[in-house]
Amino acid sequence: MNTQIIKIENVHLGMTQIEAAAKILKEGGLVAFPTETVYGIGANALNEEAVLKIYEAKGRPSDNPLIIHIAHKKDVFLYAREVSPLAELLMDTFWPGPLTLIFYKTELIAPFITGGLGTVAIRLPSNEIARTIIQKSGCPIAAPSANRSGKPSPTRAKHVIEDLNGRVDMIVDGGKAQIGLESTVLDVTGEFPIVLRPGSITKEMLEGVVGQVLLDEALMKVDEKTVPRAPGMKYKHYAPKGQLIVVEGQDCKALNWINRQVIEKDCMGHKVAVIATKEDQEAYHCQNIMVIGSRDNQDEIASNLFKILRQMDEEKIDFIYTRAFSEEDIGMATMNRLMKAAGNQKVSL
Ligand code: TXA
Ligand code: MG
Repeated sequence: MNTQIIKIENVHLGMTQIEAAAKILKEGGLVAFPTETVYGIGANALNEEAVLKIYEAKGRPSDNPLIIHIAHKKDVFLYAREVSPLAELLMDTFWPGPLTLIFYKTELIAPFITGGLGTVAIRLPSNEIARTIIQKSGCPIAAPSANRSGKPSPTRAKHVIEDLNGRVDMIVDGGKAQIGLESTVLDVTGEFPIVLRPGSITKEMLEGVVGQVLLDEALMKVDEKTVPRAPGMKYKHYAPKGQLIVVEGQDCKALNWINRQVIEKDCMGHKVAVIATKEDQEAYHCQNIMVIGSRDNQDEIASNLFKILRQMDEEKIDFIYTRAFSEEDIGMATMNRLMKAAGNQKVSL
């Protein structure tokens, strides 16, 4: 397949290209486009053939349900049943934005979208290019992250091109995805909302609006027995090819331990890298130091994580060491993705 790659600076200058993207979607094709979280690979959610092409392009298991992306809040009522006042309050507060809500589905949503579940995930993105493409297409758009299955989600068009060139009809380059981690997934079908996947809209932010919010207990669990409620959270995700080791402990202990490991692995002929904060970088003795951001800037760390994990593969790193990051704010989502990438192993000193 020949993939058109187009660059759009903003919706006003790029309207012709946006209309071309919308036409492809309407006609059953695949378009990868930027959102404020990560890049998505979109298809018309009402067209089974089109949606099956997503699974094929990604190499993704088809029991993993997809998020429906809409351009107008009122469209929720077409696809969701029993939209509670609490859910409406959340929509009014956080949409458009990086919050995906899980509702009971209506008949319009076929089982090929939901992996056979009776519920559907819906999100109204704030990225203007995404929203305008969806709006112009006139259909709800099923859009998982635009990576090949198992790879980190793409936060730049370059990543999408690496993974999906030749597998989709069009890739829209709209620059860097602002947040860099996927949306918060919140189940609003029960008495209390439950966070199924942490994101930049935190439990505390949600609680500030609707009171008590629960966390799916499988989220931060290290054991393999607790099955997450969001089917997608059970897959080994984001993992670089090399082994990622997350280290928790006081400054001195953690830095010394990592430095010793670096020497040891290096002597054995392995290629080693360290993911460092700006504050820590000078303290490491390693040839490959990737700076992820300032220790206290959780947003910066979140936005660079997937890019750095991809760089590790590009540079064929065998062992990657990083200290654990703060779990404040978006830090919880960052640590959730980092721990998945590390196969849920952490060294505590
Ligand atoms: O930020 C995002 O949400 C990005 C951008 C492109 O919008 N999309 C994204 O989609 O991350 P995907 O398919 O990679 O992740 C969807 C997550 C998976 O963990 C999936 O299992 C969960 O949402 N999910 C979807 N439908 C669900 C449902 N009915 N019940 C529980 N979890 C669901
Ligand atoms: Mg994904």
